[in-house]
Amino acid sequence: MANPTPAEIEEKLRGENLNEWLRLWHTEQGPAKPQALKLIAAAIPFSIEQHLRVLDLGCGPGDAGRSIHSRFPHARIDFVDRNEFFVGLCSAVNRRDSIGGRTWVRDLSEPGWQRDLASEYDVAVAVNALHWLSIEQTTKLLAVVFQLLRSGGVFLLMEPVTAEPLFAPGFEAWQKEQPSQHSYENWQVFWSRVKALLGCDYGFLGDPNNQDSIGDTLSVKQWIRLLTNGGFQSIDILLRDAEKVVLASNKS
Ligand SMILES: C[S@@+](CC[C@H](N)C(=O)[O-])C[C@H]1O[C@@H](n2cnc3c(N)ncnc32)[C@H](O)[C@@H]1O
Repeated sequence: MANPTPAEIEEKLRGENLNEWLRLWHTEQGPAKPQALKLIAAAIPFSIEQHLRVLDLGCGPGDAGRSIHSRFPHARIDFVDRNEFFVGLCSAVNRRDSIGGRTWVRDLSEPGWQRDLASEYDVAVAVNALHWLSIEQTTKLLAVVFQLLRSGGVFLLMEPVTAEPLFAPGFEAWQKEQPSQHSYENWQVFWSRVKALLGCDYGFLGDPNNQDSIGDTLSVKQWIRLLTNGGFQSIDILLRDAEKVVLASNKS
């Protein structure tokens, strides 16, 4: 049986407490994420009066885009994800909160995923999403993101990272002592609630066939290299903690 469409999912979510769904997702995403999202929104170097065009890639329920909207209330945000449940939940919350923009079910690893989207975006953002792709897919994706941005537009990303090989053993030993951001139990709670609502089992987010997904194998420098190869400039490391990096870049 085919998965329900985002519109069907939105319908199922009509009687649901959306804040409770977001709470379950935020619990799964760990306590450090809200501050990182705040930083991403804060770093966007434009006036809060501007009617920004923003693209949230691998949006999930839409945390990153809506965090940007909370600082730029006139922004229109387009949200893209391949998971129908997330797109349905994202749409339902955006409708409730009067967030302008559209949601799209698209697989970012497929050519042409950007069809019908706007161009000349001021901001693109990807949070914990690109590492589901392979390096090759990410390289192609970054080239498209570069095209979709206007000159002067910015791209911010947050992804898991490892240390450079020389420092990795020590870093990983230290990392194990840090408070964990994610638990398998919270992941299961979220997806079993989805299953109970829809009667369909997404199981997990990733593509089981994508053995080449980046995961947490890249160092900060390697992510920067991917951005540099994609043509991005003014690349800065805004944050690096035990698990992830937040990078900012622009298309000059
Ligand atoms: C850990 S979640 C993060 C979601 C969201 N950015 C957030 O911060 O809440 C990873 C997201 O990437 C999406 N994703 C993974 N591979 C994708 C692909 N090939 N195309 C589109 N979305 C993808 C998943 O569906 C999921 O929503």
